Amino acid sequence: MFYPLARHLLFKLDPEQAHELSLKQLARLHGTPLDIFFRQSLPQRPVTCMGLNFANPVGLAAGLDKDGECIDAFGAMGFGFIEVGTVTPKPQSGNDKPRLFRVVPAEGIINRMGFNNLGVDHLVERVKAAKYQGVIGINIGKNKDTPIENGKDDYLICMDKVYDHAGYIAVNISSPNTPGLRQLQYGDALDELLAALKERQQVLAAQYKKYVPLAIKIAPDLSLDEIKQVAGSLLKNGIDGVIATNTTLAREMIYDMPHAGEAGGLSGRPLQHKSTEVIRLLAQELKGAIPIIGVGGVDSAMAAREKLQAGATLVQIYSGFIYKGPALVKEIVTNI
Ligand SMILES: Cc1cc2nc3c(=O)[nH]c(=O)nc-3n(C[C@H](O)[C@H](O)[C@H](O)COP(=O)(O)O)c2cc1C
Repeated sequence: MFYPLARHLLFKLDPEQAHELSLKQLARLHGTPLDIFFRQSLPQRPVTCMGLNFANPVGLAAGLDKDGECIDAFGAMGFGFIEVGTVTPKPQSGNDKPRLFRVVPAEGIINRMGFNNLGVDHLVERVKAAKYQGVIGINIGKNKDTPIENGKDDYLICMDKVYDHAGYIAVNISSPNTPGLRQLQYGDALDELLAALKERQQVLAAQYKKYVPLAIKIAPDLSLDEIKQVAGSLLKNGIDGVIATNTTLAREMIYDMPHAGEAGGLSGRPLQHKSTEVIRLLAQELKGAIPIIGVGGVDSAMAAREKLQAGATLVQIYSGFIYKGPALVKEIVTNI
């Protein structure tokens, strides 16, 4: 009820300013009587995935709360899980501004943020301070100034630091905004990375006496052959989950719309069918052996159902949340 008015005002601001202001206000209002503007109680829809228990299958996608500043506020909205990050070993400022654009007629977003974040140590402190009882996923990436040949080291540094604090670890090899990153999705580079992550997971599991699942986040711009290869590599390396998908480089769905020519990844409604198709193809390859977390254009209960029907066990939202607010979480959880 409150969000349409808030959105009306926020959409008058530059998108990144609106984002920062919203996070600041959420963190400020949470725990005060004013959190009635976003606090909501939702029906229980328990799901088990990757060996973890989720109160409901609707999660916050990575990139919205990169530094984990508002975990408890998002928890109050009823999310079944919250994925923070992408976080990198060192803090970095990301790409030059402007780097975030609304494609309003399509309910889409284009971003080329470039992993702006305060670094893994800061994020771990935020996660430790959170009281949220649901599952917290921590999404990890590499610093821009780390050569891609050494990218693996950045993932391992992050893994070591977040392992004891994460419900699951999401490995982002699919952002289009870090040069070269997507190369890690292909052939030997993928196999080598997954083998190294799996080996480290085994060491850390023994050290901390707990098993933290690893999920790999992939792009929607993969061909059928590439999806088959990714699936084969996930199976071979015993990866626990796959998050499909990140943003797309494609623009045909928003041809001629405002900002369509901006570089970066497109998300929201224009990505909906493309990401569902990737989920469907992945599900055919994985045959239930590895669960899929479906993300891309989920903007209604029906869109969430399409992802589940295509083979996802959980869904995540980002752009739909920007356009519809906390009511979207309630709509999906209630009608899923
Ligand atoms: C502004 C913005 C920043 C994002 N940052 C990240 C990120 O840091 N890491 C990541 O894995 N995905 C990131 N994403 C991708 C989302 O997590 C999600 O995969 C994608 O937006 C598709 O979902 P949607 O259509 O619901 O937005 C970002 C998306 C947006 C719009």
